[in-house]
Amino acid sequence: MKHIVVLSGAGVSAESGLKTFRDADGLWEGHDVMEVATPEGFAKNPELVLNFYNERRKQLLEVKPNSAHYDLAALEKDYKVTIITQNVDDLHERAGSTNVIHLHGELLKARPVNSNNIILWNTDMKLGDVDEKGRQIRPHIVWFGEAVPMIDLAVDVCKTADILIIIGTSMQVYPAAGLKDYVKKGTPIFYIDPNPADIHDKHVKTIKEKASSGMKTVIKDLTS
Ligand code: OAD
Repeated sequence: MKHIVVLSGAGVSAESGLKTFRDADGLWEGHDVMEVATPEGFAKNPELVLNFYNERRKQLLEVKPNSAHYDLAALEKDYKVTIITQNVDDLHERAGSTNVIHLHGELLKARPVNSNNIILWNTDMKLGDVDEKGRQIRPHIVWFGEAVPMIDLAVDVCKTADILIIIGTSMQVYPAAGLKDYVKKGTPIFYIDPNPADIHDKHVKTIKEKASSGMKTVIKDLTS
């Protein structure tokens, strides 16, 4: 069975109603990334950070996967599929994907500060929510400036890809954006994005479409 590796970003969830980060009206237009997505921001104003993620979590519980998530999940009928996502939502899993690596953490998980003791969390998180040792609970999100614990696994997965699908990402954030360089030379790469970054690689087929229609195009290409 061929191995399809998928690198997804916020754009795959846009048609579900979740905002991307860097598009016009994206999350980083209304919020200062240094305030809400860094350990320094959390130390300075934890309530602001907790509320930012409370809002994201609440929205996540109101939305559903879209056809791009479902089409990616359905690839598992004919391929071994590994999804490496930069997204902190659980829409790939809800659509049925069984092998998802979350590079930047998960909104529905939490952990105490300075601890890797991950717990499930689906409600608002407040200042004063602490573990048995009295440590404040924080979202299980990889903030800027923090290590990306899943990156080594993601690199190894990319090395075994027969096909790479990049979908809905501006390819601005490293190390995630560098993963495409680990696929074997000559591996076909599809890049679905209505406003794609410039990727100078002759093996990249750029599909300038939204995630849902772009996935239909890729499936047609794979089965032709
Ligand atoms: P960005 O907001 O940087 O990029 C979103 C991409 O989705 C853009 O290239 C858009 O053109 C594209 N897009 C918009 N609508 C789309 C649609 N309907 N279908 C397909 N694509 C669409 O988001 P990411 O690349 O995911 O990290 O950002 C990477 C990381 O930066 C995020 O994981 C987050 C952020 O800061 C953390 O918070 C740690």
